[in-house]
Amino acid sequence: MVPDNLKHGLRGRSLLKDVDLTKDEFLEVLDVAALLREEKRAHHEPKRLQGLNIALIFEKSSTRTRSAFEVGAHDQGAHVTYLGPSESHLGHKESVKDTARVLGRMFDGIEFRGSAQADVEQLGAFAGVPVWNGLTDEWHPTQLLADVLTIRDHASKPLKDVVLCYVGDARNNTANSTLVVGAMLGLDVRIAAPSSLQPNAEVRALASDLSGKSGARVTVTDDVAAAVADADFLYTDVWLSMGEPAEKWGERIKLLLPYQVNAQLLRLTHNPNVRFLHCLPALHNADTEIGKQLLTEYDVDALEVTDEVFESSASVVFNQAENRLHTIKAIMVATLTGT
Ligand code: CP
Repeated sequence: MVPDNLKHGLRGRSLLKDVDLTKDEFLEVLDVAALLREEKRAHHEPKRLQGLNIALIFEKSSTRTRSAFEVGAHDQGAHVTYLGPSESHLGHKESVKDTARVLGRMFDGIEFRGSAQADVEQLGAFAGVPVWNGLTDEWHPTQLLADVLTIRDHASKPLKDVVLCYVGDARNNTANSTLVVGAMLGLDVRIAAPSSLQPNAEVRALASDLSGKSGARVTVTDDVAAAVADADFLYTDVWLSMGEPAEKWGERIKLLLPYQVNAQLLRLTHNPNVRFLHCLPALHNADTEIGKQLLTEYDVDALEVTDEVFESSASVVFNQAENRLHTIKAIMVATLTGT
């Protein structure tokens, strides 16, 4: 397959939320990513983005997403301009709409990471060039491309037979995206979370609608043991977001500890080949400032995943992290050069 000759023609398209891609388009981007991965590993990458300029707007910090856009663009011959939280007028002295129209005159593509989904939607509406959502409070679409590529790499069965179970705090962008992408692609997708931390009604309705078309089985429950039974992949994310009030941490940790991914939870899958996914960063030990503070203060060894599971052979989190590069590169190549 040649990325410059995409069957579904993504040139000029934006990725503002997961469902901006159809199932076939999503899978085709993964095929492009797998090809680009092969080319990179073979040290033979044609530079399909030569001479293009890409803006990277980060209102929030990032390790993987920023690095994937920068390295992916560089590998393909494009230049990037990083606009960090205090490095542009966006939102302070200039509206999103005006910024979109300015950047669209200078750049060939724009990545945006920030809180408001409305902001990335407005960039997409007014920039006139592809805009890619690098995470908002609602969706994390580039993450899910990497996640499904990782699932495809490690599953010994077709995607439609895969059981993917997300456990923990499910009232966030990664859980939302996991639910709707699983539903769109026809997986058996399950969310296990306390009732107060489950995806909202709008996200669940979208997943239900998508599952009607794809044949996916969609479950949202607080019964973690039932949810993980026969799972092929367990997926979790951090329990505490930056900016969360410190007085809420104790309560949140107590509520979520039954949903921690630990050896006992892996056993409850009854699947010796179950794999562990995490979008990272993870609080699995006290090797970080925040990890040390939380673990000392609340007398726990780990938060959303134990160190034992994180470091086990079940864990494919670093393959997943590497796939951020190949999939982000693929969405740039597909939307900037596809037919
Ligand atoms: N998973 C993810 O988005 O990682 P970063 O915050 O490091 O970009």
